[in-house]
Amino acid sequence: MAKKYSDQLSPILIGLMGSGKSSIGRRLAKHFGIGLIDLDDYIVRKAGQSIPDIFSERGEEGFRDMESRALREVLGKPAVIATGGGAVLREENRELLKCHPPVIWLKASPEFLANRIDGDSNRPLIAAGGTLKKLQQLAEIRYPLYERCADFTLPRGDMTKREALHSILRFLAAWQADRGV
Ligand code: S3P
Repeated sequence: MAKKYSDQLSPILIGLMGSGKSSIGRRLAKHFGIGLIDLDDYIVRKAGQSIPDIFSERGEEGFRDMESRALREVLGKPAVIATGGGAVLREENRELLKCHPPVIWLKASPEFLANRIDGDSNRPLIAAGGTLKKLQQLAEIRYPLYERCADFTLPRGDMTKREALHSILRFLAAWQADRGV
């Protein structure tokens, strides 16, 4: 189990919205006694606007520009980083992620996620309803991108958050041992 924090360890969590990046990230950060940088929160603080307001004023592309900038700013900091679900969409972001391992994909099915996030007014991509269908479309496009970026894939499902955390810690222990960090 990875207990010791090394300043060369800044795990990054990726995955579809609702997969638990922020909540598992919080537990992981607490375990190591380091901070959690939630990329969406970081963007909201910098912009002084909510995610839905950013989407409606600047469009999705405007949000993606801010997201890429934010990612560049936070990568390499000694913290756990929880990205937004679409952070893997741009090639430049994927390149950056590949240069900052370990990247952990919280892999969850659209069916698992739909119940968890249905009706969430803070997530513009599902604001129009049809949450399951939208998640299925996103999964089709993004699963291969998550897979390409990930050093470790954690299948979410029946697993509790505690089990998920332990599984990630086991991976990190092996990852650190491999690199001697
Ligand atoms: C998005 C996911 C959201 C947020 C924005 C766009 C996406 O983050 O960045 O609404 O494209 O999947 P979460 O994955 O934390 O919900």
